[in-house]
Amino acid sequence: METMKRTVTCGGLRGTDAGKTVVLNGWVHRRRDHGGISFINMRDRWGITQVVVDPVLKPELAAAAAELRNEYCIAVEGAVRPRPSGMVNPEMATGEIEVDAERILVLNKSSALPFQIDEETRANEDLRLAYRYLDLRSAAMQKRIRMRHETAFAVREWMTTQGFYEIETPTFIKSTPEGARDYLVPSRLYPGKFYALPQSPQLYKQLLMAAGFEKYFQIARCYRDEDARGDRQPEFTQIDIEMSFAGRDDILSMTEGLMGHVFRKVLGVQLPASFRRLSYEEAQERYGTDKPDLRFGMELLDFGPYVEKGTFPVFKDAVAAGGAVKALVFKGGASRSRKQIEELEAVAKIYKAKGLAWMKVRGDAARDGAAQEGENSSPLEGGAAKFFSVNAAEILRGLGAETGDLILMAADAKRSVANTALGAVRSRLGRDLGLAGHDPSSPRFEFVWIVDFPMFEWNGEESRWEAAHHLFTWPQEQYHAVLESDPGQVKGDLYDLVLNGYELASGSIRVHDPELQKRIFKIAGFSDEEAERRFGFLTEAFKYGAPPHGGIAPGLDRLVMLMAGESSIKEVIAFPKNSFAVNPMDGSPSEVDAKQLDELNIAVMKKEKG
Ligand code: AMO
Ligand code: AMP
Repeated sequence: METMKRTVTCGGLRGTDAGKTVVLNGWVHRRRDHGGISFINMRDRWGITQVVVDPVLKPELAAAAAELRNEYCIAVEGAVRPRPSGMVNPEMATGEIEVDAERILVLNKSSALPFQIDEETRANEDLRLAYRYLDLRSAAMQKRIRMRHETAFAVREWMTTQGFYEIETPTFIKSTPEGARDYLVPSRLYPGKFYALPQSPQLYKQLLMAAGFEKYFQIARCYRDEDARGDRQPEFTQIDIEMSFAGRDDILSMTEGLMGHVFRKVLGVQLPASFRRLSYEEAQERYGTDKPDLRFGMELLDFGPYVEKGTFPVFKDAVAAGGAVKALVFKGGASRSRKQIEELEAVAKIYKAKGLAWMKVRGDAARDGAAQEGENSSPLEGGAAKFFSVNAAEILRGLGAETGDLILMAADAKRSVANTALGAVRSRLGRDLGLAGHDPSSPRFEFVWIVDFPMFEWNGEESRWEAAHHLFTWPQEQYHAVLESDPGQVKGDLYDLVLNGYELASGSIRVHDPELQKRIFKIAGFSDEEAERRFGFLTEAFKYGAPPHGGIAPGLDRLVMLMAGESSIKEVIAFPKNSFAVNPMDGSPSEVDAKQLDELNIAVMKKEKG
């Protein structure tokens, strides 16, 4: 087969190259015909170059030119020439020149396309995923996959200069609990036995600390059988990190250094040298979530002090029951219609709130008018305003609310419900009003550490305590005495890194004392035998002088997603699964041959789909 090897890429030619003869390899991106002349935008990974085919001046090219269709893979030889004045395209890197074709070779034809290869594919998601190799040809996907590569490269560069080794851990392991379901791999040699795919390399990185490596990292694939969401995939990638002889602050500052390097290298963005910190409790009180988006304020306020100044029974009941009333001030929100407020109430109710009370701060003119007519002269109106007309001025001052604002309030016998529900309203408003700023040319990155998480959470369904993060977290020293007597009070040496409202990373200082580890297993409901069976190999390793250690794992997919300004990690994964854990391209998961099942000693009991 005739070959025409490229001498230059489709992104490389500039005005100063005029006069050269070049060979380009790439794809027909677009073809336009004007007055018998074909203008072909030829594309490769590096850019687009305009190729001109004039079949009148070069009759030998007529047949080849007539045949070209979008996405044909071609080679073109030709002379670089300046574009005629007036035809220069300043939007294109190669916009000063064009290539006058002298030879065209079709390397491969393309069938009719299921969708156009544009800047960004607009086809529906399953079609994009079914033809992912075409979707990936779009400029936007090419850019994001490049950014992912550059991010991974910058991570390796930084970690290596900091003295970390990248060490691979197995993907066929003994099941490691991280809270999700395992993907299992049946063993052919041992019927009835299974490997698990790692939900993370957690235990193995701890064993590498026991093994004396001191500083480990790995760009590690993790597998979790949980429902897919925008920021979740059944298989995803962590930048997994572990360090010996390191305390919490060492790990936080190492991570800050890593993020600083990655953002500088990949985006040219300078991050602050250290990120602010919030305790878990403070995050809940001020933002109603442990992953607050700090690109905007609108903090939750305590309405408690004003409950007694009013007459709203719902609020009084919540306080009497030991709960809380929280408020947020929506600046300029008084123009919201009743229907819009009801939409916010629906959001609060998803998070178990019984309602969302509201009142508006009305304009001075309206109030003066009302006063003249001898009506209620309170600056508050609508909704719950009638319960607070007497002390309205004091309440407004306390909350910092002004004319034109909307005050939203949630009361509940459970403080956490009031916080979470109002936090969800805050997030929704942030999104709807674009408070986080959505200027793609100057994206903002607000990092925050959330620290001092509770160690244990009560699982009401199963009536037992379970680890809030995982079982290997070090309980803060001052709680060691009350671990068993008051698990709900115990705070762990646990931290999350949050970026723009997403949990980007999670980590902790680990338990290295086998006895303390056994106590934690027990609180989480594992009998000694069960703990021995599942984690015996870890506690055994800790008996031989395992060093104190801790670590963290930023999600690579989420990191690149946020750097790229996207809201789904599928946009930064070459071949993701769809929302139903299916790959529409290869059709996985799929049935396998009876012979394969036989070898694995597995029989499938088909469940009737109801
Ligand atoms: P954790 O389970 O919190 O911690 O995971 C750490 C980070 O991994 C990312 N992540 C995911 N990304 C995409 N899809 C998923 N299904 C998914 N699940 C998690 C998130 C998350 O913050 N072994 C511990 C870490 C440690 O303690 O060192 C762990 O896996 O960005
Ligand atoms: P209701 O008495 O249920 O009709 O509610 C009257 C108003 O109070 C409505 O706007 C409700 O949304 C609001 N409301 C009811 N329960 C609560 C609550 N727990 N917290 C805040 N507002 C509430």
